[in-house]
Amino acid sequence: MLSKFSEAQTEQYYDHEDAVYRALWDKDGSVHWGLFEDGANMTFLEAGANLNAVMRRRGKLAADSHVLDVGCGSGTTAIALCHALGCRVTGVDLSGVRIANAIDSLEEEPRPVQDKVAFEKASATDLPFPAGTFSHAWSQATIYHVPDKVKVLEEVYRVLEPGGIFVFDDLLKPQPNISEEARKFVYERLLYDTDFSFESYQEALKAAGFEVLEAEDISRHLKTSYQMLSDAASRGNEEHRERFAFLAEAYQETARSVDRKEVGWALFVCRKP
Ligand SMILES: C[S@@+](CC[C@H](N)C(=O)[O-])C[C@H]1O[C@@H](n2cnc3c(N)ncnc32)[C@H](O)[C@@H]1O
Repeated sequence: MLSKFSEAQTEQYYDHEDAVYRALWDKDGSVHWGLFEDGANMTFLEAGANLNAVMRRRGKLAADSHVLDVGCGSGTTAIALCHALGCRVTGVDLSGVRIANAIDSLEEEPRPVQDKVAFEKASATDLPFPAGTFSHAWSQATIYHVPDKVKVLEEVYRVLEPGGIFVFDDLLKPQPNISEEARKFVYERLLYDTDFSFESYQEALKAAGFEVLEAEDISRHLKTSYQMLSDAASRGNEEHRERFAFLAEAYQETARSVDRKEVGWALFVCRKP
């Protein structure tokens, strides 16, 4: 289950790549894929906001929720959740640069939001909170990076109160045979490896103590997200010219890897009994 990438490498990667992600994915700092409604002609960012709305609804988040955002990045979604619902949100992330971004953004917010949202640099494998602190845990596009994914599931379980809900998305490895293209452009680029398929992920959640309420394979939306990102990268960028050229190709190969079932994406809603 342990991958060959370390948390220190991931931290360094996100500290270093923050400016590229802002130039290509979202100037406000969110870095997650989108859920596209059939026939709705959504932009990439609209689809990202739609994923937030779907997760809010399926996770049954409400004004009185206390939410932990695991891998909150630059805090964009945590702040948006507080705006949308008025709930308390605590975000943790491994990247010092991204947590500093989150704290800077929070300082621009009105006092009621500042009072309800907090950010802390921490690893998902060692959450600095007592057992039973949160009514909800939320995570987007993060757990795939963590070498010890089972430890993350156990930590999230620990910090949820009984009856607490864990709503999250993550990458999958649908089958063990990976082409050279997928290895280079998906797994190595994302500092990612896992044994979790759609089925074995659910087994791991159950082994950590969760009841799996919903599991949905949303891989086709991962493909659309990467096709759009590849198009955006192809349009180029003065400051990050070489990186954009590499990403245009890498994102196209990632979309193809989804078609070849070498990488997948799923949404899970779980409950701590
Ligand atoms: C693709 S970004 C997603 C960020 C955010 N969830 C969003 O939607 O914008 C992945 C994030 O996971 C964080 N991360 C990776 N490993 C982590 C770990 N062990 N603990 C906490 N955060 C981690 C990275 O620093 C990065 O900010």
